[in-house]
Amino acid sequence: MEPSLLPIDILDAQQGFPEALAACKDLDGLMRLKGVYIGREGSHSARLMELLKAASKERKRELGGAINVLKNAWEEALKARQSELEAARRQLATFGNTWDPDLPPPIPARGAMHPLNQLIDRLVDVFRPLGYHVEEGPEIETEAHNFDGLNIPADHPARGSADTFYFEKYPELLLRTHTSPVQVRTLLRLAPHIQEKGGIRFLAPGRVYRKDEIDPTHSPMFHQVEGMLVGHDIGMHHLKGTLAYAMKALFGPAAEVRFRPSYFPFVEPGCEVDVRCPLCGGSGCRVCKQSGWVELLGAGLVHPNVLAYAGIDSNIWSGFAFGMGVERIAMMVSQTPDLRLFFENDQRFLKTMGGLD
Ligand code: PHE
Repeated sequence: MEPSLLPIDILDAQQGFPEALAACKDLDGLMRLKGVYIGREGSHSARLMELLKAASKERKRELGGAINVLKNAWEEALKARQSELEAARRQLATFGNTWDPDLPPPIPARGAMHPLNQLIDRLVDVFRPLGYHVEEGPEIETEAHNFDGLNIPADHPARGSADTFYFEKYPELLLRTHTSPVQVRTLLRLAPHIQEKGGIRFLAPGRVYRKDEIDPTHSPMFHQVEGMLVGHDIGMHHLKGTLAYAMKALFGPAAEVRFRPSYFPFVEPGCEVDVRCPLCGGSGCRVCKQSGWVELLGAGLVHPNVLAYAGIDSNIWSGFAFGMGVERIAMMVSQTPDLRLFFENDQRFLKTMGGLD
């Protein structure tokens, strides 16, 4: 008698599959298992089909259906296991042989504040305890705020289109060339309250624009922090003390600063403040142009015309103002010899500036 298919044969073949599948740890093993269960020749399913041939008609239909269900279940399970193993292999390729599924996942790098913004925040923190608050003004300014209100004469060279970016369609507008127009705006706004407040003091950080060629110490866009104080009987000693305090807070107590007479139309007298070049220690380098000193800011006592423009009586009120170059200070604090690094945003540089993981 021909061997004929029995349900027990199906059961028999079914047994052992889940264990064999679970024991299969790689794709090669899985392919072998596939051959054993659903391969075209010699597999369990091929053998069952062979046995089916000898069965009676009704049995064929019944058992054939059962074999198909079983074969489909194997196929499904093998496919699922295959994608699992393929995913594991990709993971291995990504993490290398050291990948350990029990380890916590790698922590993604965190973002951080740009070094220039970090420095601006630091400057604000240096001045806040002295009673300074933060003011802001627009980067697109009027000639009135950028020049007129600052006692800058109509024929001053800084007004020329060689130094200043103007707008073709709006001749009275320009990109502010310094943060000093925030002096004008803030004085105009606070003038009516100056008496009750007993004075005015603020810091104004922001972007400024000049037609400068890009080089290691120049950029057509850079940052300044403006500072202004208006009170009674304000003199150069107040300015000097305030700036010396601020520079020591930034560069450390050993920092050497010097004040040089200089000229700005909106202050009288005016000065420039230099710090001993932290890059070369004063012996001379490219950044300090061999002078040993780096200019960090312009400053002076507020010109009476600036107060008058805002309607403030210069017989009662006097003040000082200063404007510092943020990139210059950032270069000095971080000993960076090229200002362009602050704008290129190369992660390798930013990471050396702290704040980035
Ligand atoms: N605005 C000047 C500049 O951009 C700096 C300055 C500010 C000088 C305030 C004096 C007083 O160079």
